[in-house]
Amino acid sequence: MSLVEHDPANRLWLLRTPESSYAFRLDAGDRPRHVHWGPPLTLSQATQVAARRNPADSSFDEPGDERQELPAEGGAFFGVAALAVRYEDGTSALEWRYDGFAIEDGTLVVRLVDRHYPLELSLHYRLRGDVVERWTSLRADQPVSLLRTDSAAWTLPRREGARLTRTSGAWSAEYGVLREPLPVGETTLTSRRGVSSHQVNPWVMLDAGDATETSGEVWSTALAWSGSWRITVEHTHTGRVTWTGGFGHENVAWQLRPGETWETPVFAGLYAADGFGGTSRRWHAYVREFVQPHPEELRPIVYNSWEATGWDVDERTETELAAAAAKLGAELFVMDDGWFGARTGDTAGLGDWTANEQRFPAGLRPLVDAVHAHGMKFGLWIEPEMVNPDSDLYRAHPDWVLHMANRERTTLRNQLVLNFARPDVADWAHQWLDRLVGEHGIDYLKWDMNRAFTEAGWPGGEAGRVWVDHVRAVHRILGRLRADHPTLRIQGCAGGGGRTDLGILARTDEIWASDNTDAADRITIQHGYGQVYPAGTMSAWVTDSPNPTTGREAPLSFRFHVAMAGVLGLGGDLPRWSAAELGEAASLVALYKEIRPVVQHGELYRLADPAKSALTAVQYVLAGEVVVFFWRRPTEFARPVTPPRLVGLAPAGRYRDQDGVVHDGAVLLSHGLDVDLPGSGYASAVVRLTRV
Ligand code: DGJ
Repeated sequence: MSLVEHDPANRLWLLRTPESSYAFRLDAGDRPRHVHWGPPLTLSQATQVAARRNPADSSFDEPGDERQELPAEGGAFFGVAALAVRYEDGTSALEWRYDGFAIEDGTLVVRLVDRHYPLELSLHYRLRGDVVERWTSLRADQPVSLLRTDSAAWTLPRREGARLTRTSGAWSAEYGVLREPLPVGETTLTSRRGVSSHQVNPWVMLDAGDATETSGEVWSTALAWSGSWRITVEHTHTGRVTWTGGFGHENVAWQLRPGETWETPVFAGLYAADGFGGTSRRWHAYVREFVQPHPEELRPIVYNSWEATGWDVDERTETELAAAAAKLGAELFVMDDGWFGARTGDTAGLGDWTANEQRFPAGLRPLVDAVHAHGMKFGLWIEPEMVNPDSDLYRAHPDWVLHMANRERTTLRNQLVLNFARPDVADWAHQWLDRLVGEHGIDYLKWDMNRAFTEAGWPGGEAGRVWVDHVRAVHRILGRLRADHPTLRIQGCAGGGGRTDLGILARTDEIWASDNTDAADRITIQHGYGQVYPAGTMSAWVTDSPNPTTGREAPLSFRFHVAMAGVLGLGGDLPRWSAAELGEAASLVALYKEIRPVVQHGELYRLADPAKSALTAVQYVLAGEVVVFFWRRPTEFARPVTPPRLVGLAPAGRYRDQDGVVHDGAVLLSHGLDVDLPGSGYASAVVRLTRV
């Protein structure tokens, strides 16, 4: 069965994923019209949908019931434009002529050309498992102003009710899940910060208000873009729900140069009929199979020295920490900020990427060798896109930063943003990174980015390009480094989870999900992260108690059990840990190594919502292996907590736990596990089950 079918008579295309269909057609004016996105339909069934008409036409509305595939000004259209252009004579309405279609490398490309002006538009559709990837490209022989070029617009079939799920957050409080009725009108989610942002992650989930964790229809889309973006969801009085999304935010425009192909990032869409849990598992499968560079690998256990040392890094301290980390079973040692130039605090040295001579008199090599001698890989923190004004780099190249004529250069965290849209700046960054990795045998980079864009101008260049070309350059440099150093692995970070998206996940191996390492907060953060992104990409460290950021105390086992639900790492001040703590930590690291394949590569089931219950649990299943984490945050004494039931098991199957007790699948599915979580404070447990 072909995945893409075409009905030439009705000028309709049908795309089929294993469990859904997507259809669109061309109307009489060659305008692409959305037909269907949802449960599987055949080509002739999709044609029946296309034949329907909205009875409630008026001279104040768009006629018919179908929405546009890429809404644009022109004709009776009054919604949010996904594509907005200005030709040199001021014309902005678009009128298309169909120019054929092709299926190239599994991608359906439908070509349209403007009836009068030399603008070509291509709509791209690619099926990746359950996901439909969409993007747009434009080309012209004459300059055209591009005011908005979204990747795709999506339309829901008519349903009773509409609800929007998305994240809301801040630095150290990323990915808070919000699920609210969708108001009638236009709801815009956006980042104007130059990164995908802590505040709202670039994905949305829509349902009719009736989906649950385990049932119901959910339509979701995620943007593969690591810079500013905008998604606008429109809910009309008549009940239609459409949304459009792409890179850039309002008032950012670009000049399409003659002969240039302008390509948008992928906006990926997924329909699932089995609730929010099924939606997340499908996204995880998609990320593993089609996005991550090395999904087959198990991520190593990192020790990162940032919370232990702050800025006070030197060869002796780092070497001692590396020895302590190795004893616990760490497999990768990462030296964080403070190792280079005059960077002994956040006010100076950023941009001067040679080892600080007082701190590392013989350069980095002795530390790298010591780490390797422990059998660990060596990783290094970098922040290539930034500069402190108090640095040799800025003194030499004050024009390399984003700035505007006659305006202040706003510093945030005492730093300015280098303009990577400039080819000379991007080349400089690539060269020193390439040299650093090659000369020092660096196995891993933590690529950080610690401030939002301001005064994002480019005197002498095209300012609007900054928002797009800076990000493209970051993506390109990551790609080149990976290609030239095939064993190099990279962690994406932007003050924690400020740049978590499908675009960065395609070029990194894991994400530092948050600077907040407090295990109690982390349960919420990890719950939100996992809505779209898999646990095998989510780096999580065990740090000290009281937590340096929040001041909260929690038992070591609780902190471990929370971090073990992702890619376990260590970040505590180990020399201050007691012998008992170090012993317990070593055995928990050893346990993690045993369960790691199930956590990092298994299917995730959320058993309880941390916003609703003090007791939260997540379950991972890989073939016949099951791992369940239970976390109980402090609650009122004697308040009963409902033991979550397990899911995703065979009712007729039998499962042996780590103590040798055998449980029937049917009992686990209907009554859950009997775990002992004493008291009313922090308590946690990890249960391993093997199908027998
Ligand atoms: C922000 C990161 O998220 C932290 O983990 C740490 O690397 C600091 N930057 C260092 O400046």
